[in-house]
Formats: sequence, structure tokens, C-alpha cells
Amino acid sequence: MIEPPAPRTPTETPEFSALALHARQAQKWRLEDLFSSDPQRFERFSAEGAGLFLDYSKNFLDSTTMDKLVAFARACNLEPRRDAMFSGAPVNLTENRPALHTLLRAPAGQRFELNGEVLSNDVQQVLLQMEKVSERIRNGEWKGFTGKRITDVVNLGIGGSDLGPAMACAALRPFASPDLRSHFLSNVDGHAIDAVLTGLSPETTLFIVASKSFTTQETLINAHAAREWFLANGKPADLAKHFVAVSVNVQAVTAFGIDPANMLPFWDWVGGRYSVWSAIGLSVAIAVGMDHFRAFLAGAHAMDQHFSRTSLESNLPVIMGLTGWWYRVFFGSGSHLISPYHEDLRLFPSHLQQLEMESNGKSVDLDGLPVTTPTAPVIWGSSGSNGQHAYFQMLHQGTDLVPVDFIAALKPSHARLSQHQVLLANCFAQAEALMRGQQQDEREAHEGQRLPAYRVLPGNHPSNMLLIDRLTPETLGALLALYEHKTFVQGTLWNINSFDQWGVERGKALASRILPELEGKPADHVHDGSTAGLIARARRA
Ligand code: F6P
Repeated sequence: MIEPPAPRTPTETPEFSALALHARQAQKWRLEDLFSSDPQRFERFSAEGAGLFLDYSKNFLDSTTMDKLVAFARACNLEPRRDAMFSGAPVNLTENRPALHTLLRAPAGQRFELNGEVLSNDVQQVLLQMEKVSERIRNGEWKGFTGKRITDVVNLGIGGSDLGPAMACAALRPFASPDLRSHFLSNVDGHAIDAVLTGLSPETTLFIVASKSFTTQETLINAHAAREWFLANGKPADLAKHFVAVSVNVQAVTAFGIDPANMLPFWDWVGGRYSVWSAIGLSVAIAVGMDHFRAFLAGAHAMDQHFSRTSLESNLPVIMGLTGWWYRVFFGSGSHLISPYHEDLRLFPSHLQQLEMESNGKSVDLDGLPVTTPTAPVIWGSSGSNGQHAYFQMLHQGTDLVPVDFIAALKPSHARLSQHQVLLANCFAQAEALMRGQQQDEREAHEGQRLPAYRVLPGNHPSNMLLIDRLTPETLGALLALYEHKTFVQGTLWNINSFDQWGVERGKALASRILPELEGKPADHVHDGSTAGLIARARRA
């Protein structure tokens, strides 16, 4: 008998075909019917790990669906690929690098060696360096050039060198020192630096120039502007008291004028969007203290263990990765809403936007073949209950299927308990309303009246509910690591490299050609008519 050829892509596997067939039925299901036919549905389709609880029962799936999804994950070699990532294999193939952010949160004492280098020692050393710097700033030992203590810390960075620390500082606000204010400056737009520097004093401000490459245009321009602002008062010899750098590029840091003694290193095996766990998290450590920063790492490590040790069937990142993939590939959902009902998590959706869209916004697979299904959806969101009064209308009565991840803490970090109950009630109500809608027959049964069509809510919208006990450094770490691994799972299902970002480079190259033209120099590049017209208009302004 002739063996069928081995599948070259995930979509050529029999497991994918089986799912495609099954999806035709699942697309016709009503979520409420799934609950009526299975009284144990909530228990059956909920899972726990690393302090997080996930209710995924309000999704278009049953036990057969889960079996088929997990079989597909296995056909995509999810387990060996996950183990390869943890072991330091060069899973970022286009850059021939490992993706070892998990090592950054491994406990001290857990030795990890790669190619003869004991990387775990390097990680622990940098953590000690972070501890030293952050403690000296927090206890006032680190003085500015006039002998005053530091009151304001400005993180200068963009993308992963900004979004992660900004999100974590906002999320851990109740744990932050009241004597220190954190600021985040990313945009090259001069309005941004003006807004940050207004009200700051050069005597009491510390700048952290956070850039993995130390070549990012926006960050370097802002760093130069900050240095100029500082030098209007301080002397060049005082810079060391007000500028530190976090980077892999010692040469560029030195060329900028920051003393290498004031530099905290990290490594090219940490991707930018996975770097908050490294010295890029210095602003977080300064704000909340090193004990809390270590607790943040420990929470993420607990999720790493859950991901690497729990069977796929009960594995939170696997379940979330598979269900998100299911909607993207078979239900035509173009976006995925992240809806944290926690004001301190308001920046979480923006961080996930980079994490998921920069990681999985790809159309070529690891073998250079085109991916034949849709890949990363648009990730978006903001904190609840604000969203209810803005875009939830579209979710309830619009025409698109938008899966939602609701995230809530059962206990607040404040004493206004009745307000917290209102918040939780709204969160649970939205998930229920999205699923059940408001049907014609319901109103008729209760009030004997027909509902006008414009008041009917079709319902049948899927969502996940992620619950934490309270938002702490540990639970934040676990939550973020959950989404990192969910992203990895989906990248594996699409057979793409989740750790490179070549698409970003083209815009950078074109901007460097347009800039001289805006400055009045002759064009050395033929633009399209629109771009040429815009440049001409800007030059006339
Ligand atoms: O946007 C591309 C990118 O490389 C991101 O991946 C990264 O987080 C960001 O730019 C900032 O890069 P760097 O830390 O090197 O300044």
C-alpha cells in the first residue's frame, strides 16, 4: 500500500480536516442549548492553574470539539515545540535565537546552561543589580546632582521596552511607593515629551533609557531631548546620577554617553515584547520594590510550570489558544476583545496587542510556505465597565462575531466593597447578555407583548471569563505569562515564527528616506503620487 504523503502544513493534517467538518455543525449551535443539554457544562469547561480560574463554557464547543482541537494541537507537535522553547532551542528560526523569557522568571538556584554558558547565573546577577539600583532609589541613598533624592522616574522606550513596564506599573499601583512617580515616554511626537517633562525637576528626575537594540529612532531622539533638558541645568559630569540604560548593546550605550557602570544588560534571547521580566522591568522594580518584582516573576513561573506540566486538555494557555484559533479559522472572527473589569489593568489590552499581533501577524510559515488560514486577529480593548458605554452596543447588536475575554478580580485592592460588587455584577451580566441576548419569546412570555425588531438582541456571542482572587504581583505575572503562552500555542497551530517582526522594518527604512525630504533636502527616492503630495504639502506648511 502506498503511504499518503506527510502533511506539509497544519491544514493538510487529517486532524484539521476533521475539525473543518465538525466546525460546520458547531457554527449552527446555540450556546444556550449547549447548557440545557449538559447540566455539568460549567464544571466540565472550566479549568484552573497558577492562581487563575478560567470559565470557557460560553464557547461553541463540546467534548468532541475539545478532543478534536487537542488532537490537532498534537498533530502540530505542540508538546515537543513547547519543550524546545523551554530548553533553549533556537525557536526564533529567522534570527537563529532561542526565546528564553521563561528563564528570566525561573527560581534562583535552578541552573540553566546553554552552549557551555550558565545563563541562569547571568540572570541572577542582573536581578541583584536591579535590586541594588531600585533599593538605592527607593531608600533615598541615590541622590540627584544637587543632593536631593529622586522623586520621578521616566522610562524612555517604545514597543516592548515601554508597554510591558507601563502596564505592570499601572497594574501594581497599590503596591507602589508613594514617594516615587513613574512616567513613560515612548512617542517621538514632541508633544509627548513636553507632557512628561512639564512639572518635573532635573534635580530629582531619573531617566531609564530602555532599548534592547539601542538603535530605535524614537527612543534615541527622546533620550537626546531628555539629556538636553537635563543639561540646561546639570553638568555633563552629573549625567550619571540621572541616566541609566537597559540594553543588550554596550557600545551604543557608551556612545550615547551613559557610563557602562550605569547600564543593566539583558540578552538577545529575550524578545522585546517578552522583556518586562528582564532589566527592562527596572521601572517596575523601582516603583514596587524588588520583593514585589520577584513575586511578579514567581507568578509567571507558576504559569510556566502549569503550561509545561499540565495535560493539554486542562492547560489554560492551550485551551485559550485553541479556542481563539477556532474562532479565527472557522468562525470568521477578525478581532478579539480583551475586557478587564479592573481599572488597574486598563493598559493590559495594549500590551497584549503588541504581544499577539507582533508575534502572530504573519502570513508565511516556518517552511516559507504561505499560511492558508487567517492568522492573528486584531486584539483590542479597554477597561470595563467603560467599554459598555462605548463599543459593547456593536457586540450585542452588530453583525460581527467578536469573542471576548473578560478578566476580573473577585476581591478588590480597595475598601469600597459595594462598588466592587457593582463592577462584578456588570462583568458577569455582559457575558450573560452576550450569550443569551434578548429574545422575542422571552418578552412575550413575561409581558405578553411583542418586542420590536430593534430591541431584539440575538445573543449567541462567545466569551471566556478569567478570574483571579485579587490583582497582586503574583497573579499579574501568571496572567501575563498565560497570554504569552497562548500566543505561542497559536503560533504553533499556524506553524509560524512568533518571535520575529520583519514587517516593522520596512516602515522604519522608508521614514529614514522621507525625513531628509521634509528637512528640505532633494529626494533620492521616487514616491507614489500620494506620498509625494503629502511630503510637498508638509514642506509648504
Ligand atoms: O517595533 C519593533 C520593535 O523591535 C519591538 O519588537 C520592540 O519591542 C521595539 O521595537 C523596541 O525596540 P528596542 O527595545 O530595541 O528599542
